[in-house]
Amino acid sequence: MQDPLFTPVTLGEIALANRIVMAPMTRDRAGPDDVPTALMAQYYAQRASAGLIVTEGVQPSAVGKGYWRTPGIWSAEQVEGWRTVADAVHARGGKVVMQLMHCGRVVVSANRGYEAEVIAPSAFACPVQVPGPDGTPMDCATPRALSADELPGLAEEFAQAARNAIEAGLDGVELHCASGYLINQFLNPASNLRNDDFGGPVENRIRFPMMVLEAMAGAIGPGRVGFRISPGNPYNGMDPTDPEATFVPFVKAADRLDLAYLHVVDIGLEGLDTLAMLRANFNGPIIANNNLKAESAAALLDAGRAEAVSFGRAFIANPDLAERIAAGVPLARPDYTLLYTGEERGYTDYPTFTGSIAA
Ligand SMILES: Cc1cc2nc3c(=O)[nH]c(=O)nc-3n(C[C@H](O)[C@H](O)[C@H](O)COP(=O)(O)O)c2cc1C
Repeated sequence: MQDPLFTPVTLGEIALANRIVMAPMTRDRAGPDDVPTALMAQYYAQRASAGLIVTEGVQPSAVGKGYWRTPGIWSAEQVEGWRTVADAVHARGGKVVMQLMHCGRVVVSANRGYEAEVIAPSAFACPVQVPGPDGTPMDCATPRALSADELPGLAEEFAQAARNAIEAGLDGVELHCASGYLINQFLNPASNLRNDDFGGPVENRIRFPMMVLEAMAGAIGPGRVGFRISPGNPYNGMDPTDPEATFVPFVKAADRLDLAYLHVVDIGLEGLDTLAMLRANFNGPIIANNNLKAESAAALLDAGRAEAVSFGRAFIANPDLAERIAAGVPLARPDYTLLYTGEERGYTDYPTFTGSIAA
């Protein structure tokens, strides 16, 4: 029987040669002015045998930046930088979508390298510390609460970022709605204490996330827009209780847009089968993620629980993860001390299993 990981699949308008997706991973190696570098292009090109690469989180604007050396997609220089990434991945036969990540209130101001305000649905600081420039955990800034009348303009920033990604040659974009960042801050009652049309009952909390998805779909076409959720994940101060109450209405509403895919970080909730919940309420393709191994990933596909599977950490030290899985060879282990530092070390210097390092 053919291994289900190695059959082609189409997500919206994006055709994948296999069902192995590289999950988005922030690696803190952008150049000055948040511009992607030649080293980043090499890193992604090395991993182009994945059916699809989802880039690290990319801020749609200066205000969206929260972490050290994360790349942006709002300036002409950044678009040119991303063009080298897209071209390098395409030259090796791969596909690549950009994850749009607006940190909202998850911001250590010292990480930015410039002055920009900090915004969120409500004026409450993220209760969790995040790494500063040298990796030491630091308090997050207190955000300004967004007014309702500025939300359409903010949604348009995401739409423009999506246009910029397409102009740079990427195959699509993924809206980061997970892990406690801006979109998740609107969805979650712990960070959204608004009493207008954008807070309170779930139909209000999904209003801004939907406004953003609609703006992105309108800008580049729904078949090039995916979105990522992590139901029940307490990361960055989210209330993990009752994920069904939020995510069923959210994915049902998103389903009407006919998007390319739903990417889910399934953290393994007790008493809730997250993938089954999503399948029952979302008709588009699902990419499943979290702690998967080749066997468990293939089993998910065989059972029809997802159309594709994503791997994060396994791609760090295994640029040729797809070939290794196909050949059944053991996986290399990453050096976690070099995740966010080291430039080429721990980034582009992991060899393939045949011993070569791609230029
Ligand atoms: C170094 C690192 C950086 C990450 N950065 C992001 C990110 O920018 N956006 C995102 O949605 N998830 C991010 N994640 C989460 C991964 O996409 C993935 O969900 C997680 O690693 C679980 O998958 P795995 O078990 O295959 O590693 C990151 C994970 C790691 C290890």
